[in-house]
Order: sequence, then structure tokens, then C-alpha cells
Amino acid sequence: MSEMLTIALSKGRIFKDTLPLLAHAGIEPVEDPEKSRKLIIGTNRDDVRLIIVRASDVPTYVQYGGADLGVAGKDVLMEHGGEGLYEPLDLQIAKCKLMTAGPKDASPVQGRLRIATKFVNSTKRYYAEQGKQVDIIKLYGSMELAPLVGMADMIVDLVDTGNTLIANGLEPWDHIADISSRLIVNKASMKMKHDTVKSFINMMEEAVKKQ
Ligand code: ATP
Ligand code: PRP
Repeated sequence: MSEMLTIALSKGRIFKDTLPLLAHAGIEPVEDPEKSRKLIIGTNRDDVRLIIVRASDVPTYVQYGGADLGVAGKDVLMEHGGEGLYEPLDLQIAKCKLMTAGPKDASPVQGRLRIATKFVNSTKRYYAEQGKQVDIIKLYGSMELAPLVGMADMIVDLVDTGNTLIANGLEPWDHIADISSRLIVNKASMKMKHDTVKSFINMMEEAVKKQ
């Protein structure tokens, strides 16, 4: 590789799970973003650098060319819409489910459902497909709290072990989508840096198979 590749990642789960895949491709960050306050992290390769952004901002950075590539959860991509992006590879990391959930033993709701979620677009789409009118309350986190304080009848959130729901007296109801993280690519980079980008995708594909 000779052209510079910029890869957008978020701290935490995505960074941790992407690290072994990058290592398979011979790419190692020179710093730990959990410890450093730097937003641009170099790697052992002169032609590869990482940028550290919020999970929900990864598609935006890739769409507008701030990064050539990125790793984003399908939940985030469903909210973003995927405009200006290719999504060539399922990395099979950070797996969970997008679900509806509500209080255990809840009695049926009269009138329109009030749903608290940060996944407004996915929630709208899901209920529109069923021809149901719902009221959505946009939150940025801790959705589980909303039904407990009577602010919403239910939530739409990510579920893995189900422990967060249980800890808050909620239970999973309907499955909306299976979620995993995807490699995403800026459309212009795919054209302009085709060979470099393609060989990176191929290396990641091999890494996923070996995982
Ligand atoms: P932001 O900083 O933009 O608010 P976030 O805090 O939700 O994002 P993370 O918690 O790091 O970001 O989650 C990143 C991605 O990991 C999510 O978009 C989702 O695809 C996946 N994910 C979230 N929670 C879980 C979980 N409990 N188990 C497995 N994967 C998960
Ligand atoms: C996510 C998500 C749920 C929780 C589900 O939150 O928003 O609250 O994980 O996981 P569970 O079903 O295994 O409990 P977040 O990423 O903030 O929490 P985490 O890092 O503790 O999983």
C-alpha cells in the first residue's frame, strides 16, 4: 500500500473488537485511544491511521470523506441511512439485537404507544410497516429508565445478554433486527483509491474468516 488510508473507529467495544482484525492485517495502533486524548492515532504502518469518533458519527465521517473507511454498528447505519457509503463486509463483531422491551407483566396500553428510544428512524420504520401509529420520545441513552418513571410505555433498544433489561424490571418483547458491526467505505475513496481500499477489504475479510 502507498496511498494513505484513514479508518474511523469508536472507542470501547468497536475499537476492542476491531483490534484483532486489524492485527491479522498487520496493522497495530501506536497508542491506546482509551488512554490517549489524541483523536488521530498512528499505526505501525505509515500509510494507515485511525481516527477516534463517537459511534454514531462514524458513518458521517466516512460519508463526507473525513475517513476512507470505518467500522459502525448496523443499528447506527440503519439510523444514518447509509447515504454516500458502501457496506462491503459484515465484521461479525459487537453482535446484539434491536428489540422492543417493556415492563414485565405490563397491562395492554390504551391508545397510542409511547416509545422511548435513541433509534428513532428504525422505530418509525418498524411501526409504519405494521401500520401502527406510535409516539416516539427521543433519548440519547439509559432508555430503560423511561418506562420505570412512567414517561413511556416501552423502549426500543439493543439487547445482548438481557441483563440490563432484567436489572430494571423489563423484558424483551419483539425482535426488530439482528445487529453486528460493518466495514463501511466512502464512495469516492472506493473509486480513487480502489486497489488500496480493495486490498484492505480483502485482508479484513480473511481476518473475519479466521476469527
Ligand atoms: P455513542 O457514543 O455514539 O452514543 P454508544 O455509546 O452507543 O455510541 P457503544 O456502546 O460503544 O457506543 O456501542 C457501539 C456499537 O456496539 C453499537 O452501535 C452496537 O452496534 C454495538 N453494541 C451496543 N451495545 C452492545 C452490547 N451490549 N453487546 C454487543 N454489541 C453492542
Ligand atoms: C448497551 C445497550 C443496552 C445494553 C444491552 O448499552 O444500550 O443498554 O448494552 O446489553 P445487555 O443485554 O447485555 O445488558 P451500553 O453499551 O451502554 O452498555 P454496556 O457497555 O454495559 O453493554
